Amino acid sequence: MKKIFITRMLPEKSLIDDLEKYFDVDVWGKDYPPSYEELIIRSKNCWGLLTMLTEKIDKNFINKTQSLKIIANMAVGYDNIDIAFAKKNNIVVTNTPDVLTNSTAELTIALIFLMSKRLSEANLAIHKKEWKEWNPTWMLGKDINGSTLGIIGPGKIGFAVASLAKKLNMQVSYSGKKEKKRFPGNFLNLNELLTTSDYISVHLPLNNETKYFLNYQHFKKMKSDAILINTSRGKIINQLDLEKAIINKTIGGAALDVTDPEPLPYSSKLLMMPNVFISPHLGSATKKTRYKMAKLAVSNLISFSTKGRAPNKIN
Ligand code: GLV
Ligand code: GLV
Repeated sequence: MKKIFITRMLPEKSLIDDLEKYFDVDVWGKDYPPSYEELIIRSKNCWGLLTMLTEKIDKNFINKTQSLKIIANMAVGYDNIDIAFAKKNNIVVTNTPDVLTNSTAELTIALIFLMSKRLSEANLAIHKKEWKEWNPTWMLGKDINGSTLGIIGPGKIGFAVASLAKKLNMQVSYSGKKEKKRFPGNFLNLNELLTTSDYISVHLPLNNETKYFLNYQHFKKMKSDAILINTSRGKIINQLDLEKAIINKTIGGAALDVTDPEPLPYSSKLLMMPNVFISPHLGSATKKTRYKMAKLAVSNLISFSTKGRAPNKIN
């Protein structure tokens, strides 16, 4: 029987049972990921892996584990895997697109609401015992209705965010490599988008082109009360530049569901800033969505083994 290694418990045991009909299954049962060394040891002699975004699959890993034919990553993003080197070694890599689009878009909209109404800041003020009698000028936020949202990266998640934002009567614009005819928003160049948006939301995949792409040069162009939202990957933003931009009041604040690194050290300055909200990478974190992601990764392994075809192959 082909051997597979699953790097974390899946959301439902039935998914493991499905795999056991086809494979000799080894599961990492801890609630933290295997170390790089442990991952190599457990992957040796495996035909396939079911990995999370926490597993770093680089050249060295691929060279040391010679038997692999497929890596099914339980994420839409695959920046944790050296895709090109995997291909060179005839290893198929798959991801889990579509099933998490709406969950991630909803979280993005939640962050827009949270920042516009200053909910986190206001809650923090209560915990600091700063809540006095009702005050006509205290903790004033902004209306979402009629405000402008700029989307950087008009892929599927960006599209879903734009559609929801339209329903809130936001004015939506987007910038990307090229105009997308059906996208619910106006196509702008990045400069125009940065200078005109009240909220700027990043929906880019992380790769060599996008790494540390957003930096102080961009923040300087943004409105001084603009809010930056990131639910894609932390490394797309130059985080030190972002800290500086917030300290200097170059921009109004940020809501980050992804950071560099994750988890963010408790000593991070970002965690001390009242106008910065951090959530711990929850874009796909609903019961339904995580089940669908795991199911899709499982289907890719089974389909590739039985039919030689992996529906969500990316390389
Ligand atoms: C989550 O961040 C994913 O890429 O699925
Ligand atoms: C606020 O609570 C109001 O009644 O206006």
